[in-house]
Amino acid sequence: MQTLTVGLAERSYPIYIGSDLLGCAELLLPHLPHKRAAVVTNTTVAPLYLEPLRTILQAHGVDIISIVLPDGEQYKNAETLGLIYDALLSHRCERNTPLIALGGGVIGDMTGYAAATYLRGVPFIQIPTTLLAQVDSSVGGKTGINHPLGKNMIGAFYQPQIVLADITTLNTLKDQELRAGIAEVIKYGLIRDLSFFEWLEQNVEKLLARDANTLQYAITRSCRNKAEVVAADERENGERALLNLGHTFGHAIETGMGYGTWLHGEAVAAGTIMAADLSCRLGWLSKEDTDRIRSLFERAGLPVVAPALGVEKYLQLMGLDKKVVGGKIRFVLLKSIGSAVIRGNVEPELLRQTLMTNSAHD
Ligand code: NAD
Ligand code: GLY
Repeated sequence: MQTLTVGLAERSYPIYIGSDLLGCAELLLPHLPHKRAAVVTNTTVAPLYLEPLRTILQAHGVDIISIVLPDGEQYKNAETLGLIYDALLSHRCERNTPLIALGGGVIGDMTGYAAATYLRGVPFIQIPTTLLAQVDSSVGGKTGINHPLGKNMIGAFYQPQIVLADITTLNTLKDQELRAGIAEVIKYGLIRDLSFFEWLEQNVEKLLARDANTLQYAITRSCRNKAEVVAADERENGERALLNLGHTFGHAIETGMGYGTWLHGEAVAAGTIMAADLSCRLGWLSKEDTDRIRSLFERAGLPVVAPALGVEKYLQLMGLDKKVVGGKIRFVLLKSIGSAVIRGNVEPELLRQTLMTNSAHD
């Protein structure tokens, strides 16, 4: 098992990464002093991992309330969030009752937001069970829900007390979901870790084959990168925005296509290709490196062409991005592989060319 720390002074917390960690009650018990917790999960994850978690915690005298939500990005909304509050209130959960998120990024984001807001804040534990959640969404305290007009538009920064990433849970993940997680892994290489990108070029097939050591290495290195960024800029006043490489385009794809039609990681992949293409048009990223990036995403089985929403629709949707300042879209772009910057004032014609060239046409 590997242990990392997200360094945020009195709100610092550990990330545990390893195999069969769901059975390690001793990692969770220090965070459950009142012997009661509410586990939030969904209809797909519950039959796989809820009972093992309940059994191990109950064996240590912890009373578990389970809240099983419908599965899917399309349920990451205010209505489903209401189901969490309903269950917490009807079970009379108190300020000292931690919420445990057991699932992927959708469950983690919604549970974290419920924890941030229920009774003005209750403790929160992340048990991420997708690759994407283990390398990204469970770490750093971004929580929230979607709005029909924009992705993740309602939310809060609210850090968990512990992240428990059990690599063994990834064995039941669909191949398409595993690939979606690899998009966020590649992101760390692109924005700040060239040698990790090079490692991924050597090892992407082993990741796809779910080799346990390769997964452990990729998750640990991703979390180390994320923990460093979050510790330096928790509330995204600067460097943290770089973690959104490909997301301005990607969120437009997810919203424009209807939540759940494109997986988040798939949208980020196609969005990152657009960001690389725009960086190349600006004369920053070489053609050779742009092709190298495309090739790695292709080898990971990820989409490199965005859907046919039309340029005007893309521009309209991107206008709602959280990084917009003074009505101007700000993009995360690449100077080279391993070095990202954030820029506003991108020439509209270059942006249009990127959108035209890298999206499908009806
Ligand atoms: P997800 O939560 O929808 O999970 C993907 C699918 O895998 C779901 O059907 C889920 O039920 C299923 N699943 C989960 N664990 C499983 C397992 N072990 N075995 C079998 N099936 C399993 O999607 P995701 O890719 O994990 O997360 C995407 C979400 O995360 C998006 O909403 C995105 O906005 C959010 N996100 C948040 C942050 C953040 O910093 N908070 C970062 C990146 C992404
Ligand atoms: N996933 C982007 C962030 O956590 O900042």
